[in-house]
Amino acid sequence: MPLAEIEKNLEHWVHEVFAVTSFLELEKLKAELLGRAGVVTSAFKLMKDASAIEKKSMGERLNKVKSELENAFSLQRKKLEDYEITERLKGETLDVTLPVSCDRFGGLHIISYAMRRIRNHYLARGFRVSDGPEIETEFFNFDALNTPRHHPARQSQDTFYIEGTNGVLLRTQTSSVQIRTLQKHGIPVRMISIGKTYRNDALDATHSPMFHQVECLIADRSPISLGHLKSELRKFLQFFFETDDVSMRFRSSFFPFTEPSVEVDCRCMKKNGQLIITEKGDKWLELGGAGMVHPNVFRNSGITGDAYGFAFGFGLERLVMLKNGITDIRNLFDTDQRWLQHYEC
Ligand code: PHE
Repeated sequence: MPLAEIEKNLEHWVHEVFAVTSFLELEKLKAELLGRAGVVTSAFKLMKDASAIEKKSMGERLNKVKSELENAFSLQRKKLEDYEITERLKGETLDVTLPVSCDRFGGLHIISYAMRRIRNHYLARGFRVSDGPEIETEFFNFDALNTPRHHPARQSQDTFYIEGTNGVLLRTQTSSVQIRTLQKHGIPVRMISIGKTYRNDALDATHSPMFHQVECLIADRSPISLGHLKSELRKFLQFFFETDDVSMRFRSSFFPFTEPSVEVDCRCMKKNGQLIITEKGDKWLELGGAGMVHPNVFRNSGITGDAYGFAFGFGLERLVMLKNGITDIRNLFDTDQRWLQHYEC
């Protein structure tokens, strides 16, 4: 379309943009006018045959048309968004002055429920259930866990440090509770700890800057082997997933506080679009880390003499999501009542 005609049509197009009532229509019109094969873009392409002087003035005129159209599109998009929000709010308003209906008393969040379940199970088995602060010192979160000064996990891309303090941080792992428990109670000890941990990760379907970990530590004066770890892990998985149908494997890994260290995988398969744990699975899914307690961890916790132990640490969200077929971690921390009611326990 010749430039003069484009300019003549501009007003009409702007009117058209402002008359659009849906995002779909808006995108369609935008493609027609400003898209790769749209009127304005095609006119830019025609300029290549013009002389240098002509090119300059045509370019300026076309850019003016383009920016007026772009402006109209973005104004209309904003208007549609506002409209959508208002309409949604109208449909979802909650009158907090209405009398409370007594047929619903609420329930436990699926994460709280899982925490209670694990806690009660281990209490019944005679374990100590330990807690530690979420605001920790570098000593408990890193130093005592045998983590070298310049270990990458310490960097602020991974760890939230509290401003204005000297190495106070939001704990990145519940392994800090291993040290607190060893210091306080010595060995032998059988401990489980479940709580919040924090990492400087962006929120997406599988990551959250806050999540929960389940930590287990068993330590004694007499020898404990990798075999004991494997047996305890199997018990945990069978209990958590409420099935004997679990098959797991160890992959060699590294954690500063365990030696040897392993990554625990478990067999699973896809059934009706959902991952399920089963011995017959054809895939391996990584569940968490584990290993034999490093002698420095005992030493740093003030334990002298013979000491043996193992520990493991799993992300609770991951386990809960797997068990319940939840695929987006963000759902767990949203406040969508429909979702929460569906999964409450
Ligand atoms: N703390 C480790 C992590 O957050 C997991 C772990 C716990 C590994 C205990 C070994 C032993 O990744």
